[in-house]
Order: sequence, then structure tokens, then C-alpha cells
Amino acid sequence: MSEKLIISGNRPLEGEVSISGAKNAVLKLMAAALLAQDVSVIRNVPELTDVEIMLEVLECLGAKCKYDKENKTVEIDAKNLTSVYASDEFVSKMRASFVVLGSLVGRMKEAKVALPGGCKIGERRVDFHIKGLEALGAKCKIEQGYVCAKALELKGADICLDIPSVGATENIMLAAVLAEGTTRIQNAAQEPEIVDLANFLKAMGANIEGAGTNEISIHGVNLSDLHGVEYTTISDRIEAGTYMSAIIASRGHGIIKNVFPNHLTIFTGKLLEMGAKIKLIEPNVMEVSSNSRLLPMNFITQPYPGFPTDLQALAMALLSTSNGISVVTESLYENRFMHISELWKMGANIKQNKNHAIIKGVEYLVGTSVCAPDLRAGAALVVAAIMARGESEITGLHHIDRGYEKFTEKLKGLGVCVSRVCDDNDLSVLKMRDKSGTQI
Ligand code: EPU
Repeated sequence: MSEKLIISGNRPLEGEVSISGAKNAVLKLMAAALLAQDVSVIRNVPELTDVEIMLEVLECLGAKCKYDKENKTVEIDAKNLTSVYASDEFVSKMRASFVVLGSLVGRMKEAKVALPGGCKIGERRVDFHIKGLEALGAKCKIEQGYVCAKALELKGADICLDIPSVGATENIMLAAVLAEGTTRIQNAAQEPEIVDLANFLKAMGANIEGAGTNEISIHGVNLSDLHGVEYTTISDRIEAGTYMSAIIASRGHGIIKNVFPNHLTIFTGKLLEMGAKIKLIEPNVMEVSSNSRLLPMNFITQPYPGFPTDLQALAMALLSTSNGISVVTESLYENRFMHISELWKMGANIKQNKNHAIIKGVEYLVGTSVCAPDLRAGAALVVAAIMARGESEITGLHHIDRGYEKFTEKLKGLGVCVSRVCDDNDLSVLKMRDKSGTQI
């Protein structure tokens, strides 16, 4: 049964929130745990549907997993992998699971992994992943929706990515850990999640230099050099950016705990430029507030350390009521403006021209029914609803549940007037089913 959020907006927030572990880091660490013939424990794991899907993928490969939600830990015993086949049933639901390809090719020298799914924010090709694995010596082909890779042996290589793809950098890194010799990834992605993965692998016994810069060197080690680890993942920068946006949208005041401010430098800078007040009161605690209409601002999404594409929709929601005209350019994904038509319904004045959006700030938004078209766009609609006069209903929550742990509770902790209820439309469908006894 699907559910919806009901938010009563236009009231200043006051409260606090603690940021969870980073979805896009933890999922990759889970795949990396497959590399060692041992047991690894990952801490600070957020309770998300994507984590559940990843556990299913790992179990299908023969790993034995224990998920302790209360203590936020996942234990992965990868002593005996029994399969190299990651089925479409899971991988098509979530792009991150595609990184099991690198781990399987590295450890088993063979993999059959379904082409990835995830949010429909663009074409999201995997050609750089495949070229990278081929450079290491794997023969890859795409057959009936699966990437099939096989290698007699893997040898280190120099690989220059056309663009600094996060997923390709991760897959190549994972495969190169057990390759013979040195692999150099040039134009590598520099995201904090890449650094987290490298730190996890290094703790396991891998030899990696340069993560966090645009050139990463992986010096291959033997399988016997790798061992299980206990590792705590980083805090989620996109979740933190979401709650910063929510507080600012409401012209309220809030405390954000367990945040890694260095991962949010450009976003924080842009919010300050818009007139928000942001203060670091402890190394991982931020005080965020705003008490007036925001100023307009222009930005272009870029790979890290540039403006994160994952916060583009949230920033656009904020700009929709700013005092002037803003221009937003999305340079990573060709279909990451799906929130625009939903924001229109709330009264926003936004014109889209290819990958540019011109936002003419209106004085206020008006609450209405909207549907989350993807994960981050869904979060942006929640922020818009917090700003809007009156009540909003947000459906499509399965997208939001992929990336935000205990979202309703955390919003309530910040003072948002929100409830999560069954979708009436679903209820009426059910009633009709009851009456006729047949499915509609
Ligand atoms: N690209 C290719 N070929 C490839 C790989 C990528 O053309 O082989 C293109 C993509 O189509 C895209 C661009 O390169 O236009 C960047 O893609 P990248 O590979 O960097 O992204 P990703 O690994 O698929 C991760 C996050 C995304 C986040 C991006 C950019 C995960 C699971 N996903 O995706 O997060 O937007 O990096 O930072 O780590 C989200 O959390 O909502 C989300 C979408």
C-alpha cells in the first residue's frame, strides 16, 4: 500500500536533527567487503531500502550477512562466494549494486551483473566502467541486459576517464585491488564517498594512493593480503544539505549534528550567498537559520568539489521564492529537472531551456498535491511544501525512502508539521476491489 506525506507549511522550523551514514558510501563498502575471504563489519549504516536491496544482492552471491538495525551495523562474511551472478531482480532497482561487478571481477575473475537501474535522471551509461575493466584485462560483453566479464588474470593499467564518473572510478578501483601491478586512474572522481571506499579498502590491506584527488593509484596485492575490517562510514552530505535547505526554506532555526562540513563547502557558500546564516558551533555540529527572503543565485552542477547535482533540486526549491532571477545549469544528467513541473503546481515560475532553468522568484508557494519523480527531486518537493502556504500532499515516497533514513521522524524533530498516512487513492482502489472482489 503506498503512502503519502501531508505537510502543513509556512511556519518557521525550530529543532535539531542528526545526520545518518552516507547511502552512496555505505553501499559501495558493502560491495567492497566481497573482496576479502573474511568477515567485515560496517558501522553507521542507515536504515534504507537501498541497503536492504544490497544485502539481498550480496546474499545471492554467497555472502552471509547480518543486519543489526538497532546498532546500525552490517556484518558481511565473504569467506565463500558461491556465485558470480547478480540478477536483474535487484540490480535494476538500484544503481549502486552495479559496483559488485568490480569486486567480482577482482576476486572471482568472472561476473554476470545486470545493467543498473536507479533514478531515471538520465541515460546513465556504464561504458567507462566496461572500458576500465577491459583495460585491466577482462573481456566484457553485454548480453540480454547483463554485463558478462571474464579474465584469466588482471594486470594494472593506466586508465583515463572521459569524465570523472563516481561509479566507474569505484568499479575500477575495486577490480584493481587484486590486479597484478599498478593501476592509475586519471580524471578520477574525487567525491568523499570515493575517499571512504579507498579508506575501507586500505584498512582491508589494499594499497591505494591519491583518493580524493583526480589521480588514484592502486598497487595490486594478493588475496591473502586482504582481511576483514571494522569500519565506520562517513556522514551523508546530501542528507545534511537537505535538512539545511528545509530549515532555511522555513525561515527558521535548527541544529544539524553529525555533519561533515568540509564535504559541503560549495553548497554552504551558496546558501550564505543567498542570505542564510550558517555557523559551525562544534567540529560536526552546524547551526543554520534564515529570517528573510533569500537572494537569487546562479550555479552549475559539477563533479565534486563543484556544486553537487544531488542538491540541485533542493537549491531550486529554495530559489523558487527568492527575491529575483536565478539561473541553474545541470551539467551531469540530461533528465534531472523533473521537479520543475511539480514546482509549477505550487506556483513557482521556472522556465526550462535544455539543461538550463531560469527561476523567477515568486513571493510564496501554495501547497498542493505533488508526486516525487525521483529521490532528490522528492526531497526538494518536501522542502517546497515546508515553504508553501497551506497543506501539501507528497506521493511517490518509495523514491524518498531509498535515501532518507527515518525521514518523517527527523522532519518532526526539526519542527515540521508532517504526517505519513496511507494514500487515499489507494484506499479507494482497495474499497472498489473489496466490493467487486476483482483486482482493478
Ligand atoms: N557516465 C557515462 N558513462 C559511464 C558512467 C557515467 O556516460 O560509464 C555519465 C553518466 O551518464 C552521468 C555522469 O557520467 O551523466 C556522471 O555519472 P557518475 O558515474 O559519476 O554517477 P553514478 O556513479 O551513476 C553517483 C551517485 C549519484 C550522484 C552521482 C554524481 C551512487 C549510487 N549514485 O552516481 O547519486 O548523482 O554519483 O555525483 O553513488 C542519488 O544519490 O540520488 C544519486 C543519483
